[in-house]
Amino acid sequence: MKKINIAIDGWSSCGKSTMARQLANALNYIFIDSGAMYRAIALYFIQQRINLDDHLAIEKGLEQISLSFQKNIQTGNNEIWMNGENVEQLIREMEVASKVSDVAAIKAVRAFAVAQQQAMGQQKGIVMDGRDIGTVVFPNAELKLFVTADPAIRLERRYQELLQTNPAIIREEVAANLQQRDLMDSTRAHSPLKQADDALVLDNTNLDRAQQFELAMKWAMEKIN
Ligand code: CDP
Repeated sequence: MKKINIAIDGWSSCGKSTMARQLANALNYIFIDSGAMYRAIALYFIQQRINLDDHLAIEKGLEQISLSFQKNIQTGNNEIWMNGENVEQLIREMEVASKVSDVAAIKAVRAFAVAQQQAMGQQKGIVMDGRDIGTVVFPNAELKLFVTADPAIRLERRYQELLQTNPAIIREEVAANLQQRDLMDSTRAHSPLKQADDALVLDNTNLDRAQQFELAMKWAMEKIN
């Protein structure tokens, strides 16, 4: 069967990763969460106390970062590793969420991440989700989806997700973070979040996981066949 690349972009917490993972499992493709790469870079800069105005420190810091995705045998999920450590959980903390959009707006950071993402896509059979996948990373992806959902629904989904690992999480803090990231991600100078001209829009406000998957899978099979 012909292999394609699937690019999934959209607002924060709109269910992109869930759908990307479902598609990758069903098609036996590799799922790459590009946001996890920006989160891991943000985590490194926090750990090393790198000032985001210090371009030299950023360049030097990037040279020290080695990122990879490895399958967790227990969950079957592809998880992100940084410099020999599984950071999949650490990168979901609010401290990282509050810095990641500033980090992702830096040109050198984007060049570093995009080069690795494009290398991963060369063999096809990739489902990648993010903000600039259909516009910058894989402008020739055979299928591009732009995912949206009502902001209140997105907040509820992310709040419930974070609550599972952090019972002290505050809803207002999550809401402020989503709003702030959406604004920054869509207005930044380099590779802002934007719907590609040839992307199909998937509004999942009123769709459950199964319904959203069914629709995306139908579109994917139309491109594959
Ligand atoms: O929280 P959510 O799953 O919606 O976001 P994420 O996919 O984990 O991405 C975290 C942040 O990384 C975003 O808010 C963007 O600032 C940045 N990002 C980006 O700039 N480009 C991408 N392709 C993916 C993420």
